[in-house]
Amino acid sequence: MIVLGIETTCDETAAAIVRLAGDGRGEILANEVHSQIKDHAPYGGVVPEVAARAHVEILDGLVKRALNDANLKLSDVDGVAAAAGPGLVGGVLVGLTTAKTLALAAGKPFVAVNHLEAHALTPRLTDGLPFPYLLLLVSGGHTQLLAVRGVGDYKRLGTTIDDAVGEAFDKVAKLLGLPYPGGPAVERAAERGDPERIPLPRPMLGRPKPDFSLSGLKTAVRMEAEKRMPLNGADVADLCASFQAAIVDVLVDRIRFALRAFRDATNEPPRALVVAGGVAANGAIRQALVRLAAEIGLRLVAPPPALCTDNGAMIAWAGIERLALDMKDELDASPRPRWPLDQSSAAAYGGGRLGAKA
Ligand code: KG4
Ligand code: ZN
Repeated sequence: MIVLGIETTCDETAAAIVRLAGDGRGEILANEVHSQIKDHAPYGGVVPEVAARAHVEILDGLVKRALNDANLKLSDVDGVAAAAGPGLVGGVLVGLTTAKTLALAAGKPFVAVNHLEAHALTPRLTDGLPFPYLLLLVSGGHTQLLAVRGVGDYKRLGTTIDDAVGEAFDKVAKLLGLPYPGGPAVERAAERGDPERIPLPRPMLGRPKPDFSLSGLKTAVRMEAEKRMPLNGADVADLCASFQAAIVDVLVDRIRFALRAFRDATNEPPRALVVAGGVAANGAIRQALVRLAAEIGLRLVAPPPALCTDNGAMIAWAGIERLALDMKDELDASPRPRWPLDQSSAAAYGGGRLGAKA
């Protein structure tokens, strides 16, 4: 089975083609990603109208390139999948309409993919990971701990009640005068800093429900920065290192509690701890997760950074998983700006900048 996947929920325009390989994993035949970082950098964050316009301009060409890279015609694919949410509605409309048109023209099934499900299923594309597993999804738009029990079967164990982790990195970078996107800039500055110089809170530490709250931490960074104005290079480095250390402590603590909740939500222990999302590129966070996984005797699966950040291959793969179970969608499927993976969990206040209250 070969599926074309389209992603336009935020600031990456992406089209990819994935084939279901004999060993049950995915073989990526093409993976075209156009990052709009340059378009949004002057504003210090993603501007929805700018994103939607860029998706319109770029998507057709990317789909053509993906087909070309894979040496395939549209008639060779077995289905067309697009992320239908959660995300910015203008962008989602562009990807959804394009995918429906291609599916209709080629007479192929169409799949409306939940963007979060695509992140959640990526370790099956890369590693053929069996269910169930514990997923830490940390990006600019989402911060969640999920028990992944099967395709379409997710239990949200914890979520952020305000900012997403990547969003907190971006906001801290902005208030310290570092460039956008903030995550890589904060990580670089932190390498030169003292993580213990500036005392910062670890919000939610020790709470049994593995939720997150990061806006207070961001405010604490702002207050510590204001005390030291004008900031010199060492101040910025120490603030970044101290902030990153607080994030690491919070993530490790929340995962420990999520493991307990996992056992209640699923009758078996997790087969692995999986980390996905743009923040998973952070070296200090990765190192802490490696240590934690070794300590608790769990396999750690961290897909390569290019498949952790938003991409079309994960959408195509989710399309493959759903089509294999005969779960296709009608052409009147609507965009879903808010689309929780676990419909049984109450909406969280906040929930990241994409309003992904899953
Ligand atoms: O998954 P992603 O590409 O897009 C979504 O937000 O969905 O994630 C982007 C986010 C941004 O907030 C960015 O600052 C953060 O991931 N990020 C990082 C690092 N690289 C990217 N955060 C911390 N450390 C990094 N090295
Ligand atoms: Zn994402």
